[in-house]
Amino acid sequence: MYLTREQERILAGEEGWVKAKALKVIVRVGEALGADRLVKIRHAHVSGISYTNIGEPGLKFLEELASSGAETAVYTTSNPTCVDLTGESSLIDYSYLEQQLLVNKALEKMRVKPTYTCLPYMLRAPAPHEHLAWGESNAVAMANSFYGARTNREGGPIALLASITGYIYDAGLHKIEERTARVMIRFYDQLDDLTASLLGLWIGETVNNIPLLELTPRPSIHEIKLLLASAAATGSHALVVIRGVTPPRTYGEDIVDKISLRREDLLKNYRDYLWSGGDYDLAYIGCPHLSGAEMLRIMQSLEKWLWKTRGKMILSIPPIVSSVFARELEILKKKGIEVIVGTCPVVTRFKYKPGLVVTNSGKAFFYLRRLHKLDVYLASIEDIIGAKY
Ligand code: F3S
Repeated sequence: MYLTREQERILAGEEGWVKAKALKVIVRVGEALGADRLVKIRHAHVSGISYTNIGEPGLKFLEELASSGAETAVYTTSNPTCVDLTGESSLIDYSYLEQQLLVNKALEKMRVKPTYTCLPYMLRAPAPHEHLAWGESNAVAMANSFYGARTNREGGPIALLASITGYIYDAGLHKIEERTARVMIRFYDQLDDLTASLLGLWIGETVNNIPLLELTPRPSIHEIKLLLASAAATGSHALVVIRGVTPPRTYGEDIVDKISLRREDLLKNYRDYLWSGGDYDLAYIGCPHLSGAEMLRIMQSLEKWLWKTRGKMILSIPPIVSSVFARELEILKKKGIEVIVGTCPVVTRFKYKPGLVVTNSGKAFFYLRRLHKLDVYLASIEDIIGAKY
């Protein structure tokens, strides 16, 4: 691999042995992937920080790294954790709180920002062609597909080591020639949050190559987010080109297959998993986390439907949204709606096993069924909140 003079200096330990070791790992992995150089990153996003996933070995690794003086060299954000930072949820098991706070402390000691959200692009929007080292599949898909930035789907440790060095290997989606769409999918019905999730699930399950979507009318960022999160969950898609959305010249086209799809096709394909109305035990909205605009939309819908929820409702949001919307959260709380902060319900442990769960998120649907063995169905936000009575 070609290394610049600055990278040689780091490897020689001139900026400390921790940074040298971190760069050595990045170089080794890059060589295994066939990279012939490293690229500078502007932003790292560290996933895989939940204590329920990394356990004691992961915590020890982070604590040792932090106490050896490791520090982020670029802006670095953190994914959600397995606990709710309000400490008030009736659903989340807090038995891992102490250990999770130690994980957070080690990360913060290394100057990882305590963002605890899967929307790193909400805190700092990436520029087209910018190189990133991001973990978290939905964020990676947004970075590549919506912003035209360049990142592979990195594991948590690699994203952290890239953050410490400021570099990542030039392989995969960092290279423009690896960003060529080969399957065109035309969908000419209006998307809503339910059909966006269904389309994402279908793409993930059916399409192996990088897809190019033609969506008319143009979907909102909220729908794009649900679509990409679902496609990334079922199919590992890190780039889904969307005509008119993905910035030009950040991808190529060499179409070998064309598919047309209608709303009815999706509803028919997933009919066994669509919520048919009535009571639910738990409604979960906020995978990926809700932005401030989405929170306000939900508040408006709740007012329109006179706050008639049909069971327990949980919304998950980033800490920053919780501090900006403190007054709105109080109103929600008084209405019996739980808002969990900085949490990923997929990696958490529940206090009890909920019965029928409804969600508008294809990603939550996929993982809550697969990992928590819950009985989950899909519906749009409006239907969950009260239209279907
Ligand atoms: Fe975010 Fe967890 Fe969903 S990280 S995208 S809330 S699975």
